[in-house]
Amino acid sequence: QNQAQALALSDAMTRACDYYKAQLRTAPNAIEYLKRRGLTGEIAARYGMGYSPSGWDNLRSVFPDYDALALVESGLVIDKVDEEGNKVKRYDRFRERIMFPIRNVKGQVIGFGGRILDQGEPKYLNSPETPLFQKGLELYGLFEARQAIRDAGYVLVTEGYMDVVALAQLGFPQAVATLGTACTTTHVQKLLRQTDTVIFSFDGDKAGRRAARRALEACLPQVTDDKIIKFLFLPQEHDPDSFVRERGADAFAQEIHEAMPLSQFLLREVSAEHDLSEPEGRARVQFDAKPLLQSMAPSALRLQIVRGLASLTESSPAEIEGLFELAKPVAV
Ligand code: UTP
Ligand code: MN
Ligand code: MN
Ligand code: MN
Ligand code: MN
Repeated sequence: QNQAQALALSDAMTRACDYYKAQLRTAPNAIEYLKRRGLTGEIAARYGMGYSPSGWDNLRSVFPDYDALALVESGLVIDKVDEEGNKVKRYDRFRERIMFPIRNVKGQVIGFGGRILDQGEPKYLNSPETPLFQKGLELYGLFEARQAIRDAGYVLVTEGYMDVVALAQLGFPQAVATLGTACTTTHVQKLLRQTDTVIFSFDGDKAGRRAARRALEACLPQVTDDKIIKFLFLPQEHDPDSFVRERGADAFAQEIHEAMPLSQFLLREVSAEHDLSEPEGRARVQFDAKPLLQSMAPSALRLQIVRGLASLTESSPAEIEGLFELAKPVAV
């Protein structure tokens, strides 16, 4: 029964995706918008981008049994109810938006992100979670990027749909995006199954730097000595899309080349804002580093970070391992 439901959901998503793609071809304002953002038809086609036109029930033409079908569960439509909870009318969730289909690793469309043309709220409207679509598990663009990730030998993890398609447009098809949520341990697991090198490239603003910190925390339990995790920090006013467009592909490639290794980012995170010339400052750095190091499995990389921390805080690696109880075997 669950499988039948998943199939029906997946079929509805595919049909809606085909409809949105067809609509983009006859929507000059949407095409104009994508062109203004530097995107070609080829990239739009590669990512199955589409357009949801204006109107409240366009999906009637896609789903003849619009009212009867269990479409609400797919999130493609919304049932408006009155105070007594009676269904008043049904309407399309996505209207006048650029549509980004979100695929799972099998390539099935499991959800959508819809960007408003120009200004308006919310900027992006996303599909709700369904049995097929859980935001903490999925990464936008991973299906499309799989071969490019293998070819490049690394994956770029960004925040946004537009970052992924703009990077692909300018020669970096190995990019994916978290779906407006924090990068989770499951995301990291999924990425490390595809490649041994993950480079996070979030927005240069405060939110992006916070996202990098959370990604660091999500990575620590996963990282092993055969994996490399790096962090690329863009200027405050940029995200990968605006940066690659304004500065060009070579400048972005240089940023990738100079990305900060996880160990360095961790040590910078814990030591920023503390005065290493005072015992209290050095103690505070150790205090901040403790939970991060404790979340790592024993490894050569952990030892390297311990050594880095020891030298920053005028301690010995053995003192830190003792203080953090790192040597202690995990109880089973
Ligand atoms: P940003 O605000 O950085 O948007 O949000 P963006 O990706 O740079 O988009 P453009 O360039 O303005 O078109 C990053 C991501 O957070 C999610 C989306 O996944 C977006 O790509 N988000 C943002 C939402 O889900 N809803 C919103 O209203 C805003
Ligand atoms: Mn942002
Ligand atoms: Mn952004
Ligand atoms: Mn942007
Ligand atoms: Mn601190």
